[in-house]
Amino acid sequence: MGQNATVEVLVTPSGRRLAMEDDIRSGLTSNPKSIPPVWFYDEVGSRLFDEITRLPEYYLTRAERAILAERSAEIVDQAGADTLVEIGSGTSEKTRLLLDAMAASGNLRAVTLLDISEEVLREAASELGERYDVEVHAVVGDFRSHLTKLPAAGRQLWAFLGSTIGNFTPPERGLLFTEFRNAMRPEDRLLIGADLDKDPARLLAAYDDAQGVTAAFNLNVLSVLNHALNANFDPSRFEHKAVWNTEERWIEMRLRSLEAHRVEVSALDLVVDLEEGEELLTEISAKFDRRLLPGELAAAGLTASGSWTDPDGDFLLTLAR
Ligand code: SAH
Ligand code: TRP
Repeated sequence: MGQNATVEVLVTPSGRRLAMEDDIRSGLTSNPKSIPPVWFYDEVGSRLFDEITRLPEYYLTRAERAILAERSAEIVDQAGADTLVEIGSGTSEKTRLLLDAMAASGNLRAVTLLDISEEVLREAASELGERYDVEVHAVVGDFRSHLTKLPAAGRQLWAFLGSTIGNFTPPERGLLFTEFRNAMRPEDRLLIGADLDKDPARLLAAYDDAQGVTAAFNLNVLSVLNHALNANFDPSRFEHKAVWNTEERWIEMRLRSLEAHRVEVSALDLVVDLEEGEELLTEISAKFDRRLLPGELAAAGLTASGSWTDPDGDFLLTLAR
């Protein structure tokens, strides 16, 4: 750990376990069956996601990085912040572009990172602590419930990147934006990265790559449940599937059961019967129209004040107060 980095753990093993039990019980007993995306990110899942960000088909990370490379100085100037707070930070790789811009303008006092995935978070905090001459505070927590527990010092720019907002339905996004609004102070700013609506063929390729990394990432959630909840999912009895939902404008990641079979989740005392061809919904990734976020933010009491896209018009960054 770099000497400038501290780690605070808000999700205890038992708290994590209870949240997972609730999520998985309600997901696997609903129709269609589903698994909430937060549970993808054990250490293996986080490494696989990092691999996804470098795939030729996965344009999102490159597009978002291209915007940050061009526009960070302007974004940071508009935000007027001296503290960066990153939510769902992962490796914090693109975040360096924002931090470089803050450091260049002489306004970088502190960094807070919040992520559920402890190992990757610790590494990212340590690297940032070595690279920048600032306090880095890493918080292992769930952004659905821990936003108000983050340190309040400094004038803050909150970054919610990587199209993570797209992994929530419109009502869930409304709740999340309200949480942001409650946790932020009037002088703070929020920067959100969202993927723009585009040709479904490109979208499908981004979520079903030729090398099968996304398939491995999706299937890994079954191993997470096997370890954490003593379940007996056999990943070889499932296949990864990406579907474009035309009405909802989102990609659905599914796990399709190749044959009729029974799975037991011992820790939940739950028996799950799957039909041949039955599909579990594991993740959505919503694609946005440029006007969508300002409206949703306004409904939560936040005001969009600026937006930026990459030269190809693939991805959108929105700044809000
Ligand atoms: N911001 C990074 C990573 C995006 S992947 C990027 O742009 O590349 C989504 C990240 O959010 C993962 O690191 C995952 O561990 C984290 N995450 C997902 N759900 C979360 C939750 N409910 N609370 C906290 N972190 C979460
Ligand atoms: N936030 C990322 C996205 O929506 C998460 C992600 C990328 C993802 N690839 C995935 C989630 C594959 C599940 C499966 O693009």
